[in-house]
Amino acid sequence: IRMPEDTTQDIIFVTCTAPVNIAVVKYWGKRDEDLILPINSSLSVTLHQDQLKSTTTVACSARFKEDRIWLNGKEENINQPRLQSCLREIRRLVRKRRSNRDPGADVLSLSHKVHICSENNFPTAAGLASSAAGYACLVYTLSRLLSVEGELSTIARQGSGSACRSMYGGFVQWHMGMRADGKDSVAEQVEPESHWPELRVLVLVVSAERKPVGSTAGMQTSVDTSSLLKHRAEAVVPGRMDEMIQAIRKRDFSTFGELTMKDSNQFHATCLDTYPPIFYLNDVSRRVIGLVHRYNRHYRETRVAYTFDAGPNAVIYTLQPYVSEFVQVVKHFFPPETNGEELFYQVIKLC
Ligand code: DP6
Repeated sequence: IRMPEDTTQDIIFVTCTAPVNIAVVKYWGKRDEDLILPINSSLSVTLHQDQLKSTTTVACSARFKEDRIWLNGKEENINQPRLQSCLREIRRLVRKRRSNRDPGADVLSLSHKVHICSENNFPTAAGLASSAAGYACLVYTLSRLLSVEGELSTIARQGSGSACRSMYGGFVQWHMGMRADGKDSVAEQVEPESHWPELRVLVLVVSAERKPVGSTAGMQTSVDTSSLLKHRAEAVVPGRMDEMIQAIRKRDFSTFGELTMKDSNQFHATCLDTYPPIFYLNDVSRRVIGLVHRYNRHYRETRVAYTFDAGPNAVIYTLQPYVSEFVQVVKHFFPPETNGEELFYQVIKLC
């Protein structure tokens, strides 16, 4: 935020960045809409800070008359319930710290209003986890500005469920929790980003358009109408979480990749089982799926794995030795001249 020089005296501001996370065991469905409590646990990989990320600046001043927020340069309504939840919960932590007579707590008054400015360096709401990075970044930046600590993932979760996982780097699980107040619905790092140095993430941007059905509305309809989703949450995900954690701990790519693809496929199957059905994949997505299976079949092992969130864009997990060959294969089958179907891609390391 650029401030005129003579007015900066009483303004304090902090800027932070937070990366996107891509789930390998998907979260889809809430048991509590307000607190954002999921019907199943989930697990994701947080991408590198410098790649797909949100950058947020929060400024605080006694002269600000109201809380305000700008997203990608455009002012948005600060009264959205999820934004209000995050602000309220962070201020509650400030109040708690004050009551514990922490001397640092008086630096900023609780009555001070904040101005929030947030940007993504990737398409917003195109199924690339923009809300995850955005809310994780907002909560973390507020916590730095107001010097509060505590279980911040439960606050980020109340902005957007998947945001709680972006509060940590590397491999992160979100425990669904059992409590009605959501205090045990927290994110936890399974392994740090340095655990698996050869792992690579290839983002294939099929479309940068906004998704037709947002995750929030989509998963609610799935909860209301899909019996497959109920089966998935109760009978599939608990065992899959354990298997996935073991595969990550052992750096067993073959198991990791297979579970990732199966979980993505089951998530999209629940979308199809939703009534009316939700279609996130398009023809290009399905061609990418076919290509990955042909590639793996050729080598008789799982060398690359795809996953798709609430949009047609593919995220490919693979290992460093296979990246350049697989990128060549993608370029061959999706040459730049196929207008309208061009794939943009970006290779991402975890650390
Ligand atoms: C398909 O976290 O965006 O990306 O909690 O309603 O904000 P809300 O939903 P959101 O859903 C993400 C769904 C997903 C799977 C995942 O990231 O686990």
